[in-house]
Amino acid sequence: MTASVPPSGRVNARRLAQLLGEWRRRGSRHGATDLAAGIRLLVLDGRLPAGTGLPPEREVAAALDVSRTMVASAWDRLRADGLVASRRGAGSWTALPRGAGGGGVLDDSDPPPRVIDLARAVPQAIPGVAAAAEAVLPRLGAELAGHGYHERGLPELRERIAARYTERGLPTSPGEVLVTNGAHQGFALAVRLLTGPGDRVLIEQPTYPNAIEAVRAAHAIPVPVAMTEHGWDLDGLEATLRQAAPRLAYLITDFQNPTGFRLDEAGRERLGAALRRARTPVVVDETQIELDYTDGPAPPPLGAFAGDLVLATGSAGKSHWGGLRIGWVRAPAEVVNRLLAARRGLDLGSPVLDQLVLAELLAGSRNALGERRAMLAARRDALATAVRTQCPDWSFRSPPGGLSLWCRLPAPVSTRIAAVAQNFGVRVVPGSFFAPHGGLEHWLRLPFAEPEETLVEAVRRLSLAATSVAESRTPDTENGPIPVT
Ligand SMILES: Cc1ncc(COP(=O)(O)O)c(C=O)c1O
Repeated sequence: MTASVPPSGRVNARRLAQLLGEWRRRGSRHGATDLAAGIRLLVLDGRLPAGTGLPPEREVAAALDVSRTMVASAWDRLRADGLVASRRGAGSWTALPRGAGGGGVLDDSDPPPRVIDLARAVPQAIPGVAAAAEAVLPRLGAELAGHGYHERGLPELRERIAARYTERGLPTSPGEVLVTNGAHQGFALAVRLLTGPGDRVLIEQPTYPNAIEAVRAAHAIPVPVAMTEHGWDLDGLEATLRQAAPRLAYLITDFQNPTGFRLDEAGRERLGAALRRARTPVVVDETQIELDYTDGPAPPPLGAFAGDLVLATGSAGKSHWGGLRIGWVRAPAEVVNRLLAARRGLDLGSPVLDQLVLAELLAGSRNALGERRAMLAARRDALATAVRTQCPDWSFRSPPGGLSLWCRLPAPVSTRIAAVAQNFGVRVVPGSFFAPHGGLEHWLRLPFAEPEETLVEAVRRLSLAATSVAESRTPDTENGPIPVT
């Protein structure tokens, strides 16, 4: 038994089984190894944060439909690796092994190979952030003479953000903009304001994993509508709006994360009409809207069709730099006021210096944004070529914008590949992360935020991981389907 910090939160056996997804290699006789690998991935990826209390072994065994001995043996392995700690009377909980930091087992200090992080779809800062920070310093004096609390955001920044919406064809005043600590905070606030425990929130499946977490954190229930090979299932969305009567919808209409689809004008018109009929407010996540690699005109914003029902979230995270932690919500002034009231229970505004920097960047970043688009389009193409060459049985559509390829695998092995990839020096998140109830084992998201040579090397390592997973499988005809618990 290892003495360590006792658990701060708990996961129940059913949820653990969901998080694990298809953890077992088909036909594998090494169930304990597979189970330990699945848990290891969850801990190192932060899905089971260090210090999460684990359910009793017999409950895990029942939820996974395996023997208790297998679970005990997996737990022993995890304890030996420092990933699980136990104390008599207090049970077992997850832990981070010494030296693992927040990353994988092969963390950045392990040479070679350097771990390539494809778990995040976020590019480096746009050039000019440091220059913008210097440029705003003379103006900081005036701010320092004040109290520094701008609950709605700096007026200058709200004006610039409002002007961008107006340019896109959605006339907007600064009173319709609330600056937040990232788009994600904007969504979390909207969920908090518009839903209560047990309320349903319509989401796309797959969708941005942290959005699922925000819905759950508000004790609301995510109701997924599956995306199709061609994009949004408008019939499915209409039926769900009608039948499930969700309190809120959350949609990423522009370069959807992870699929990269963009909803066309006709789709927006139809969706807007359905939202109006159902009177369902919708958070439209526009965080990737600037990452458009086409020359064509952008379709009108959903707000043009669903009017006051739309709360649009935006962010500097993908366009300029995630480290600014500045995002916003664009909504009717009355909704902004209510969001502000909801925010007071959490925090009292965003950092002034970061807002000044973003205001400065928005004033003059058109050229830099153009260069960023060209750079990311080239990275997308390099990743696509590498996947076509090194993993020829994976399929994907080259997306018109955004930051990732959504790859279909020839077998349901996404979790296995993600687990094994860590041993080859790549962190990647499996398809199951993008769905509230797991599954999506045929899918893997590959972001193209990294430089081209890094992407090529990452795909080389992933192809090795995929080969190793494939070699450990026996033909499907010899083994029945694995029961999903
Ligand atoms: C679709 C989507 N929404 C929201 C966010 C979070 O944005 P922010 O960093 O502004 O909170 C991300 C970041 O990865 C994202 O991909």
